[in-house]
Amino acid sequence: MTINWQSLGFHYTEPDYIIRAAYHGKWQNGGLVGTWDEPYATDDKTIRLHVSATCLQYGQEAFEGLKAFRGIDGKIRIFRWQENAKRMQHSARALKMAPPPTELFGKAILLALRKNLAFVPPYETGATLYFRPLLIGTTPRLGVGPGRDFELIIIPTPIGPYYEKGFSCTSFIVNRHVDRAAPLGTGQYKVGGNYAASFRATEAAHLQGFDCLFTDAKTHKYIDECSAANFIGIRCQEAEVNGSEPMVEYLTPRSRAILPSITNDSLMTLARDRGMKVTRRRIRVDELSQLKEAAACGTACVISPIDKVIDADKNTIYTFGNKPGKYCTMLYNDLQDIQYGRTEDKYGWCEVIDNC
Ligand code: PLP
Ligand code: COI
Repeated sequence: MTINWQSLGFHYTEPDYIIRAAYHGKWQNGGLVGTWDEPYATDDKTIRLHVSATCLQYGQEAFEGLKAFRGIDGKIRIFRWQENAKRMQHSARALKMAPPPTELFGKAILLALRKNLAFVPPYETGATLYFRPLLIGTTPRLGVGPGRDFELIIIPTPIGPYYEKGFSCTSFIVNRHVDRAAPLGTGQYKVGGNYAASFRATEAAHLQGFDCLFTDAKTHKYIDECSAANFIGIRCQEAEVNGSEPMVEYLTPRSRAILPSITNDSLMTLARDRGMKVTRRRIRVDELSQLKEAAACGTACVISPIDKVIDADKNTIYTFGNKPGKYCTMLYNDLQDIQYGRTEDKYGWCEVIDNC
């Protein structure tokens, strides 16, 4: 199969193999006890599932997203997969599913990579191999409650930039009409239900030519997330002494209803390295007026700078310039330099794969 790497978007391309590993358990004194089978590769991309499986009936499902990059030295690097394993365990526990052990998760990712090497895009195509780990409840169950059997599936697929135009600006519209996740709900977990719950807001925003900026479900005053990405703002305070550098602040929301983004966590570290002050706190929508730059961040888009945010309810438009700003560009390059092996990986974020 020939793949035109340059024309890949954030779409599914059929890989050669997917990886599957089943868990068989039982509930004992309120706890789940069981065992995981060894992960195996299969070229069958369909699964046989009971119609009453808990993933279908009650949404007992969680997923992840991570990438492998072909570096400047020709080596493949998988970015921070251990963090994805931890987050999937966190989501699994929240939904009363069996958390896949980190070792099993890593083994499955590595097997997915080794069985699909032809799908790792070459360096400088802007494309990467994306892994979509999926955890589903497979026990047939009619009574409302969790199952006891689960399956971890890794779906690898080569992807291009999340946004068609790549590293360029997108526009958002503030949403106060649909709540993606309740304050004490499942927003901090990567579970399918959150996404289904957001579609009526995100699709309405897309129809108007925007992405959706979610506000907190309780007051709708604070910024939660950007569609399926975290929000970042850059604030610059004038230097107190003439001629010295301004104080640059990397601001990102603190909220129990948003997904703890691994990209955001990495960018916060890189921002500190660049001498920026990093602040995680509640951010009011009207504070957008104080920001020099704004962006969405996540595995898929890395950083997607925002040119404007429309707050139709308040008749306000916040603008940030129609080109990616200096600080977002700097952080984007810093992160991509690590992911593509162009600079020292001083935090050990990439697992470099030998013999590929
Ligand atoms: N927020 C949501 C709702 C997401 O789906 C994602 C994507 O995974 C993110 C944030 C970004 O997280 P990460 O950087 O770990 O991909
Ligand atoms: C991301 O990986 O950044 C995402 O937003 C995940 C989404 C495509 C589900």
